[in-house]
Amino acid sequence: DAALATVRAVIAERAHLAGALLPILHGVQDAIGHIPSEAVPEIARALNLSRAEVHGVITYYHHFRAEPAGRHVLQVCRAESCQARGGEALLAQARERLGCSADVHRSADGAWSVEPVYCLGLCASSPAIQIDERQHARVTATRLDALLDATEA
Ligand code: FES
Repeated sequence: DAALATVRAVIAERAHLAGALLPILHGVQDAIGHIPSEAVPEIARALNLSRAEVHGVITYYHHFRAEPAGRHVLQVCRAESCQARGGEALLAQARERLGCSADVHRSADGAWSVEPVYCLGLCASSPAIQIDERQHARVTATRLDALLDATEA
């Protein structure tokens, strides 16, 4: 299948790097949008790791997705500065509105993924979020709702 061929190409290109696991995982996610389950045994075999080790790294780093993202991706910053200025409330609000949780990142209709992130580089204007490629600073509850409305439209 095409995804597996892509995974093998990324492995071939990066397996020689020192600490190749992270570069390979990044490469697979960049190419496919997530890390499909069939990639795990391939990567494990190539790097002489156990499947559990590869899986553990995928779940440890919030950046990696084990399943496809929704059509839109909302990232809410949970790092210190944003947390101190209402970021957690924004995350809770978004999860409630879109039917997501800490375990369920994608809304049931596939329209959204809600992902916590750890710093978007906008700490001076917290709290910050990102919707698809676009960043938004000093986000309030009202603004978050408006941005979600505008994106869905
Ligand atoms: Fe949220 Fe840096 S702490 S953008």
